[in-house]
Amino acid sequence: KRSYKITLLPGDGIGPEVISVAKDVLVLAASFEGIKFEFREMLLGGAALDATGVPLPDETLAVSKESDAVLLGAIGGYKWDKNEKRLKPETGLLQIREGLKVFANLRPATVFPQLVDASTLKREVAEGVDLMVVRELTGGIYFGKPRGFGTNENGEETGFNTEIYAKHEIDRITRVAFEIARKRRGKLCSVDKSNVLEASMFWRRRVQEISAEYPDIELSHMYVDNAAMQLVRYPKQFDTIVTNNIFGDILSDEASMITGSIGMLPSASLGDSGPGLFEPIHGSAPDIAGQDKANPCATVLSAAMLLRYGLGEDKAADRIENAVLDTLNKGFRTGDIHSAGTKLVGCKQLGEEIMKSVDSQAPAV
Ligand code: NAD
Ligand code: IPM
Ligand code: MN
Repeated sequence: KRSYKITLLPGDGIGPEVISVAKDVLVLAASFEGIKFEFREMLLGGAALDATGVPLPDETLAVSKESDAVLLGAIGGYKWDKNEKRLKPETGLLQIREGLKVFANLRPATVFPQLVDASTLKREVAEGVDLMVVRELTGGIYFGKPRGFGTNENGEETGFNTEIYAKHEIDRITRVAFEIARKRRGKLCSVDKSNVLEASMFWRRRVQEISAEYPDIELSHMYVDNAAMQLVRYPKQFDTIVTNNIFGDILSDEASMITGSIGMLPSASLGDSGPGLFEPIHGSAPDIAGQDKANPCATVLSAAMLLRYGLGEDKAADRIENAVLDTLNKGFRTGDIHSAGTKLVGCKQLGEEIMKSVDSQAPAV
């Protein structure tokens, strides 16, 4: 029997609601493959601030580092929005990504046939979209120095950040993206703003140079403003996209809406070694928190990515993904993806339906 140590970070808002569902689905699906888990639930974000005074307690990072994989809900909320930078829930999230050195954030956006009508795009535009955003996660303007608040030469107040990438940071994310493109449809589009930004000029040059190692991959470059437009004009042109931290943040939220809802998109954040961090791309959704309205699919599918990319347990991952599709096939929907003729359910009930679908799959021999 295989056993893994999993750290759970429910966080804030809808985080605990979606983590509770994802944990149950994970345990059940893995049990059919003879896999066991040892869970430790730790504090992150606003929940950690309220309990300990900091958004990432040392113990949370230490336990996360010692585990085989980390599953995160979401962090943030109105209550902490005006906190100074050091004491923001978001700072805790950035610190754990940095602490685990998970520089490669994989954000797949797949339009399930069952949800084509939940997309805000026309059927013929959304149908068949299957793309992967490879977002650099531990560099760029999120972490660049100098940063802060100051005063300019006129004595006026300022706020400033620095978009900076070192060669090794671009090289490693580029190689991850090429490898992913190779396992997909062999196309990579690097998104930048190299018509304006030096950091992007350097990015494009390194991507171009590294492409020599991948002659089998069709590489293209696109400015980010055009990419934002192309994503809603004709998203099927994209296979794998590689981009910096902030552009990847924005483009992945945009891509989520092609699939029907941000409540559907999972992610995997990986480093060179050590545990991966798995989380939905959405936030704590304070507008629907505590109302059993959240779509748990993004987190459930993040648990599938945890099995696949974090533990190499592909069969258990397949079970979860199949169960989500089966549940959608049966017509169950949370409010964000609900449309005429489908069955509106809450977060908990959708979770129970996913569990039934896991159960109804043939047991492993
Ligand atoms: P958000 O993603 O939390 O919500 C945006 C909209 O999408 C809201 O209307 C919300 O109700 C809806 N939504 C999000 N997830 C959903 C789900 N699973 N099911 C149904 N509807 C869903 O983004 P926001 O409102 O800009 O940010 C809210 C808070 O979350 C902020 O504090 C922000 O910093 C934080 N945040 C955290 C993460 C993270 O933990 N990784 C990501 C993004 C935002
Ligand atoms: C995300 C979020 C985070 C980010 C915030 C909350 C720090 O938007 O995970 O996409 O910008 O990376
Ligand atoms: Mn985001």
